[in-house]
Amino acid sequence: MGSQIFGRRDFLKVAGLGSAALLFGNRLNAIGLRFPNRGVTDLFVPDTEISLTATDKRMQILPGAQTRVYRYEGQLVSGSGATVQAVPDSYLGPILRVKRGTKLRILFHNNLIENSVIHPHGLQVPEECDGHPMQAIGPGQTKVYEFEMIDRAGPYWFHPHPHMRTSEQVMMGLAGLMYVWDPEEEMAIPGASTGANDIPIIIQDRSFDQNNQISYQPNMMWGFLGDRILVNGKPNAAFSLEPRAYRLRILNGSNARTYKLAWSNNMPLAVIGVDGGLLPAVVSRNYVMVMPGERVDIWADFSSLAGKQVILQSLAFQAGGMGMMGGGMRGMGGIANGTAFDVLTVNVSQKATIKPVLGPLPALSVRYDANNVPDYNTPRPFVISMGRMMTWTINGRVFEMEAVAEDEKVLRDEVTTWEWVNNSPIPHPMHIHNVHFQVLQRVAPSFVDGYNTINQGLIDGGWKDTVSVWPGERVKVAMKFGPHTGMYMYHCHILEHEDMTMMRNLMVMDPTMPGM
Ligand code: C2O
Ligand code: CU
Ligand code: CU
Repeated sequence: MGSQIFGRRDFLKVAGLGSAALLFGNRLNAIGLRFPNRGVTDLFVPDTEISLTATDKRMQILPGAQTRVYRYEGQLVSGSGATVQAVPDSYLGPILRVKRGTKLRILFHNNLIENSVIHPHGLQVPEECDGHPMQAIGPGQTKVYEFEMIDRAGPYWFHPHPHMRTSEQVMMGLAGLMYVWDPEEEMAIPGASTGANDIPIIIQDRSFDQNNQISYQPNMMWGFLGDRILVNGKPNAAFSLEPRAYRLRILNGSNARTYKLAWSNNMPLAVIGVDGGLLPAVVSRNYVMVMPGERVDIWADFSSLAGKQVILQSLAFQAGGMGMMGGGMRGMGGIANGTAFDVLTVNVSQKATIKPVLGPLPALSVRYDANNVPDYNTPRPFVISMGRMMTWTINGRVFEMEAVAEDEKVLRDEVTTWEWVNNSPIPHPMHIHNVHFQVLQRVAPSFVDGYNTINQGLIDGGWKDTVSVWPGERVKVAMKFGPHTGMYMYHCHILEHEDMTMMRNLMVMDPTMPGM
């Protein structure tokens, strides 16, 4: 399989998507009439206005030469209900903290030399704010997002979503956090509204060339695998923390790499939240799997570690099934998926100034199960496979800009069950826009080795927007779309898979509209 390690451009040629497709991609704006770009409206009265600018600049990441990056720069323009906090001297975008219920206006300025659009990952927003590739704007243009923050408190994030350019733009640095908080969350987590006890941990892998420039050579099968692990934009990350509890808010912001997180001193990870916010109870695990796009909140208590050091590691696991390629497939010089390495060193000081205590975690508003999900035994299948020429498909289909198949239409306000069926040799993080879902069931693969190296680290008890589906596995999820209807998307969150083909439109239909 070694010969199938191609650069991106080679892949495009092989797949018959040569420069014509790229040219076409740049013209999509003109034909994407479903989403005319518009200015601010009088109909929407925001509580808060924020500007986010995608910039092209140089920053110090490694010693020596600066690195060219893309970066979101944020600014609070006016109003209350949200704050904008930069991640200090990092290429990463800002942390927006938004109170649930806030009416938000975001002005996205594209100062790149290419098209882009922002997608608010995990949020339920009107379709024109979802960042469909058809909504991409050109260099120098501005796109207005206006929506009410209706989602549950949780660790959402934002990143680009332009046609076939998402992976490279994220690689260059475009990603930011959007933490939603509400009073319920504050009951559980002291200081949730301000992030007083939060430690954001964005894990990404990168490779750099001899001139310290980001070197992007994705592996055709796995996507991009780098040779360095960065936390919040920094290699060799080390934090000095007090001997007390913190909320570690972990986002796997990598293009393709999966992490198996564990503490070096074998203390269990106390998981308090996932993609869509807090879990109903603390889940204690020896390790936790996090695939690209997934988030996990950990309550980490260092009280007994005064003066000591503990390392957050990623442990070895078997990433691919069928014994074929295990973790053995490498990117150009990248570390194979499933290799062990250190992620973050925590140096614990001698004395704590405060002692935050975890409060009661909020119950889920509903727990979907066989009794309340009508199509529990007849889920819609979504079969993941790898076609010829390494074309990733979902139900045999590849991405088409405007097409929506019958089984890609859902009714607003109706509970629907999907089943991901992974018939491919590697794991995929499957993401659905405009909804939070719950995992109903996982059926373990019968024929794949290595499942026991990951299955104790799957956290399925809360609201999710991205779920890992392991080789040979079937994962059943239930969800209810609403209030927003229109054209959204679902896709694999390995960004190279998304950009290649492994993404589809999803139409949320209004059940009261005639003919639907
Ligand atoms: Cu974070 Cu369409 O994805
Ligand atoms: Cu998303
Ligand atoms: Cu994939």
